[in-house]
Amino acid sequence: MRKRLISFFFLSIFFLLHCSSTIAQAPVPAPAGPDNITAILEKGGQFTSFIRLLKSTQNADQINAQLNNSNQGLTIFAPTDNAFNNLKPGTLNSLSDQQKVQLVQYHILPTMLSMPQFQTVTNPLRTQAGDTGSGEFPLNITSSGNQVNISTGVVDATVANTMYTDSKLAVYQVDQVLLPLQLFGSSQAPAPAPSTPEKGSTPKASPAGGTADANTSSGMKLDSHGLPMVSVGFAVLLAICLQL
Ligand SMILES: *[C@@H]1O[C@H](CO)[C@@H](O)[C@H](O)[C@H]1NC(C)=O
Ligand SMILES: *[C@@H]1O[C@H](CO)[C@@H](O)[C@H](O)[C@H]1NC(C)=O
Ligand SMILES: *[C@@H]1O[C@H](CO)[C@@H](O)[C@H](O)[C@H]1NC(C)=O
Ligand SMILES: *[C@@H]1O[C@H](CO)[C@@H](O)[C@H](O)[C@H]1NC(C)=O
Ligand SMILES: *[C@@H]1O[C@H](CO)[C@@H](O)[C@H](O)[C@H]1NC(C)=O
Repeated sequence: MRKRLISFFFLSIFFLLHCSSTIAQAPVPAPAGPDNITAILEKGGQFTSFIRLLKSTQNADQINAQLNNSNQGLTIFAPTDNAFNNLKPGTLNSLSDQQKVQLVQYHILPTMLSMPQFQTVTNPLRTQAGDTGSGEFPLNITSSGNQVNISTGVVDATVANTMYTDSKLAVYQVDQVLLPLQLFGSSQAPAPAPSTPEKGSTPKASPAGGTADANTSSGMKLDSHGLPMVSVGFAVLLAICLQL
């Protein structure tokens, strides 16, 4: 019995060490320095149109500066290249420079909203484009579980994926360009693309370790006495490890 306790003890130590080392390396993609929206979107690989628009309107610099300076954070809805390609030809060209700025800012909320927080927002939501006038450029969000819908009054979009989150910034992939009612009265609405939500977004999939654990521990039950205890302890530690 004593021997088993000792082995359990060492197993625990081993696991805790292993745990803390993975914690130290793994989860937070802590970038050295402030957030860089361009870099985040470039990593996504399918946002060249949105990046171009962010740059040409000087919004990229403004976003980075704002993230560095404010503590409210930002939420950014990033439409894919596919979404831009689905716009009626000439949609962007019909806008003035000022309107392009407004279009980009319409994709930005002046607070950081996590996926669960979407369920408690009060519609209509203020966007960055509406900063200068109350009631301007709002959008509506309805959410249930992992599904988040955005309605502008012109388009209904879906959040397809969580691309990035930290304490200040959340970036979500959306399947359509969010066209504000103020710029695109109903007549200008583009043909609604058959929206196939690309993927059910699961921001934090729990590691699929559950079944393997069950097998491991049942395999250990061969021994009559001590080993089950060890395996239970092992499973608990593993659970703690995975939770963290
Ligand atoms: C942000 O990232 C882009 C692309 O990786 C890079 O060109 C730019 O210099 C970065 N900006 C800052 C302020 O680091
Ligand atoms: C971020 O903020 C700090 C402190 O306010 C400032 O020193 C730094 O220059 C800022 N960096 C950028 C990229 O704006
Ligand atoms: C989101 O929109 C889809 C149709 O596009 C609808 O089936 C679904 O119920 C909506 N979900 C929420 C939470 O509003
Ligand atoms: C947004 O929500 C508000 C409040 O529920 C509602 O009055 C308004 O009609 C909605 N607008 C759109 C475009 O869905
Ligand atoms: C668990 O073990 C059993 C028999 O040892 C095996 O048939 C089964 O595929 C294993 N399941 C998993 C998830 O490894």
